[in-house]
Amino acid sequence: MNEVLSASGLEKSYEDIRVLAGVDLAVVAGETVAVLGPSGSGKSTLLAILGGLEPPSAGSVRLDGIDLATCSEPALASLRARRLGFVFQEHHLLPQLTALENVCVPAMAAGEDATARAHELLAALELGDRVDHFPAQLSGGERQRVAVARALVMRPAVVLADEPTGSLDPRRAASVVALITALAKADGAAVVLVTHQAGLVDGFDRRLTLVDGRLQA
Ligand SMILES: Nc1ncnc2c1ncn2[C@@H]1O[C@H](COP(=O)(O)OP(=O)(O)OP(=O)(O)O)[C@@H](O)[C@H]1O
Ligand SMILES: [Mg+2]
Repeated sequence: MNEVLSASGLEKSYEDIRVLAGVDLAVVAGETVAVLGPSGSGKSTLLAILGGLEPPSAGSVRLDGIDLATCSEPALASLRARRLGFVFQEHHLLPQLTALENVCVPAMAAGEDATARAHELLAALELGDRVDHFPAQLSGGERQRVAVARALVMRPAVVLADEPTGSLDPRRAASVVALITALAKADGAAVVLVTHQAGLVDGFDRRLTLVDGRLQA
């Protein structure tokens, strides 16, 4: 199988709190994986480790077969920028940039011009008439959709989405999840999406639950 992202034996402890106690996960190209679990079960911690934003206490993560622990900081940053798209629990848009500019940030960091792609994505997310708005001029749902466009602009191999519908109403939440999966599918990207709302991820290929620091099917 065509594994793009894999984790083996992941453990994570903060002082005396053991958050992850042996997580194994293999994600193949184009697959949608949901990680469920109550607040505090370690979902954000797992996603941060999978995305190379935080090191595990034990175990390893491979992206494109490359062990993240063997990468220098610049190599890791570049691998992350090219192969991963993040949608964070909070949208993390830059307030001084417009919607369009925010979407282009990952491309600019890689020295690429993604303006056309950014326009396309914003239109697909029904934000075609909001491209020049600043985050403060957008609704919560609009800001989340801008963050989705930003995560997809580099055509990543894997989209890591941490509770991307946090503050949205149920209908909006379902539509943001549907947009993430549809746009990712169009590019053959895998999605790993964390949520505590099981109803949001009915259509996912796999639904896993974080229980006592381990993933259960
Ligand atoms: N930097 C840190 N230092 C100490 N403890 C931490 C740190 N980050 C997370 N934790 C602890 O690890 C546990 C898991 O946190 P995490 O944020 O991964 O949970 P979560 O499943 O994402 O929760 P939520 O659904 O509320 O977002 C929590 O008990 C939290 O207090
Ligand atoms: Mg969290």
